[in-house]
Amino acid sequence: MADKLIIFDTTLRDGEQAPGFSMNTAEKLRLARQLQSLGVDVLEAGFPIASADDAEAVRLIATEIRRPVIAALARCDRADIICAAESVKPAERARIHTFIATSDLHLERKLRISRDDCLQSIVDNVSLARTFTDDVEFSAEDATRTDPDFLCRVVETAIARGATTINLPDTVGYCTPDEIEQFFVDVIERVPNSDKAVFSTHCHDDLGLAVANSLASVRGGCRQIECTINGVGERAGNASLEEIVMVTKVRGDRVPYTTAIDATGLFAASQLLSELTHEPVQSNKAIVGRNAFAHEAGIHQDGFIKDRRTYEIMRPSDVGVAQSTLVLGKHSGRHALKQRCGSLGVELSRLELDRVYRAMIELADRQKTIGDSDLSTIIADMRASESVGAA
Ligand code: KIV
Ligand code: ZN
Repeated sequence: MADKLIIFDTTLRDGEQAPGFSMNTAEKLRLARQLQSLGVDVLEAGFPIASADDAEAVRLIATEIRRPVIAALARCDRADIICAAESVKPAERARIHTFIATSDLHLERKLRISRDDCLQSIVDNVSLARTFTDDVEFSAEDATRTDPDFLCRVVETAIARGATTINLPDTVGYCTPDEIEQFFVDVIERVPNSDKAVFSTHCHDDLGLAVANSLASVRGGCRQIECTINGVGERAGNASLEEIVMVTKVRGDRVPYTTAIDATGLFAASQLLSELTHEPVQSNKAIVGRNAFAHEAGIHQDGFIKDRRTYEIMRPSDVGVAQSTLVLGKHSGRHALKQRCGSLGVELSRLELDRVYRAMIELADRQKTIGDSDLSTIIADMRASESVGAA
């Protein structure tokens, strides 16, 4: 039986932090319900210390959403942790997710503290978090750019103080897949108490490698992936939840892991996020974009009509999309045109099909795609000119 990956959704925290993606409390609750029905294992509901509204949203989600673990983010800081603990208190299963930066760049230039101060803060704050819940996640921000010896001390300390999940983020999306795989192999091998925690990956997409890096981290020993719907998140975003899930489904031969996600809910979750944030999904976005199951080129349309597997590696229904679409445009062929006319209830002779095809290509040169009403107009014009010719 394949190992199960823990899907940690951070759409409501890292995703919501991105410009243009903020949501009010009611909107966050709607998305949280959708994430619960999708089957996420851990739902990071927010960063309670950030504002009273954030804290209230986390509290309401923790009160209503019962199935996933509800996590709240807190810096390694007493007030943050107390605020996070209060916000997740109503949850059936509550997690405090505490973090501190560990790279010298962040310690020296941002936090202006020494490595020893950083270690002390981990000792104090992971221990404090454990007084509220046994489920404590510790993240070493900018882990992948942290000195490896120091990182191993950080991880060992966090586990010794009670952290049950260790997340090592690629905060600025800097790693390559081979590198992050080896990074996890090394840390897990070198830290003496590493078997006492679940290792987690949290990859950003600055170089477009977040999903590849997440999967490589799994090869390196991680069993939790932090990700977001539509891959939203700080800057270029986080690893996309729908892509990770579908890689495990479509390529189980290469990525032999299961998740608890009901993939048929992926499209609806993507659409809901887009509706709530008024941010359109990129049309060529894998799995959930408008073009993910659309075919315009004639050769592709011909192949698809004969056997959809020629150009589709999954069925649209697998991810909750109603059907594939054959888009009529200047690259389309007669096969797709004939099929579309058929679906409009119009049977054309070979000659008529040729005429309609030529008119369609001419129109498609002027406008991007041909809709059903354009097609009806072309057919009506052709029929009108036929009857004039006959008269
Ligand atoms: O990218 C990051 O490092 C984070 C941490 C706070 C987990 O989002
Ligand atoms: Zn992040």
